[in-house]
Amino acid sequence: MSRAFESLTVGRWQLPQRFVMAPLTRNRAGAGHAPTTLNAEYYAQRAGAGLIVTEGTAPSQVGQGYLDVPGLYTDEQVAGWRLVADAVHARDGVVVAQLMHAGRIAHADNKDGVETVSASAVQAPGEMVTADGNKPHDVPRAPSTDEVAGLVADFVTAARNAVAAGLDGVEVHAANGYLLHQFLDPTINLRDDVYGGTPENRARFVVEVVTAVAEAIGADRVGLRLSPGHQFNGVGEELGSTDLTATYRAVVDGVAPLGLAYLSLLASPLEPLETLVRDLRERFDGIVLINDGFGDVTSLGSVEELLETGLADAVVVGRPFLANPDLDERWRQGAELNEPDQATFYGGGAEGYTDYPTLEAS
Ligand SMILES: Cc1cc2nc3c(=O)[nH]c(=O)nc-3n(C[C@H](O)[C@H](O)[C@H](O)COP(=O)(O)O)c2cc1C
Repeated sequence: MSRAFESLTVGRWQLPQRFVMAPLTRNRAGAGHAPTTLNAEYYAQRAGAGLIVTEGTAPSQVGQGYLDVPGLYTDEQVAGWRLVADAVHARDGVVVAQLMHAGRIAHADNKDGVETVSASAVQAPGEMVTADGNKPHDVPRAPSTDEVAGLVADFVTAARNAVAAGLDGVEVHAANGYLLHQFLDPTINLRDDVYGGTPENRARFVVEVVTAVAEAIGADRVGLRLSPGHQFNGVGEELGSTDLTATYRAVVDGVAPLGLAYLSLLASPLEPLETLVRDLRERFDGIVLINDGFGDVTSLGSVEELLETGLADAVVVGRPFLANPDLDERWRQGAELNEPDQATFYGGGAEGYTDYPTLEAS
């Protein structure tokens, strides 16, 4: 029997297997950035994942970035998430909201004209899709030292809202070049206050957010996602540098005493990061989830290989879950898989979203 199908306790949840559904932005939220019955159907179809981490969800309007991303800062959004929570629970699943403040990966057009903030006023390269076509990312404003507390408070409110909606917890998104990662990266964070300069100072905001969220809703239903050195969205962290090691050690050492549900590491590419991943896993001393990035789509073989390395307790699986609502069953049976259709990843309706067939239907 493959290790992939051994059960695992993560925080307050007992999971049936050692792979979980990755956070996947799908840009299909309804009016007011609220989840809809279509979104609820999508997540319920995938309840067999055991643990679902939702698409990145904005903790505030300022934290919105892309078009049609859901939020967790209005009553309407909480009501929308209740549809998702109830539908997933009806199928015995567990679902946590990924709290994603986009920071500088944003355009005001996608959030009713509100401002964009980042660690420093450093514009991200590239463009953002808006309703009027592609536009350069906003030039962000750097919040003052005192304002950072307000950003922390937004994460706490969103986490409380997640629980109020009946969701099982939250994952704090400090990966992939969004706001929290922008504070970690010395090429984006040029601050000279307590949130900038040394690795410990750059780690401070992430540690404060995770600590405050854990205190608010209970550490055993809070996860943290990090992607050390992932050069995505203009991140300039240097693989193999002593600064990278010191920065991520500072984050992990800062959150380890909290007793979080899990630490989720996106290690891409895995090979040069293996030493750092092992080091962070030892320091964290709790459940570690891993994903080795966008290079190859995760397969059952790669899940098993990753588990064999001992780098993690479970593997985070993205595109195969996107295209296979019953992926767990298909992998158990060694059945054929549906192929993910990249053209329908971001935005649209049911097509490429809720219409991937189950094994039973195909
Ligand atoms: C369509 C799509 C949307 C994604 N959205 C998010 C997101 O909202 N938050 C996040 O942390 N990662 C996001 N990712 C990264 C995935 O969580 C995962 O790391 C990546 O897909 C590689 O794993 P895979 O080979 O299993 O798909 C996204 C990936 C894809 C393909």
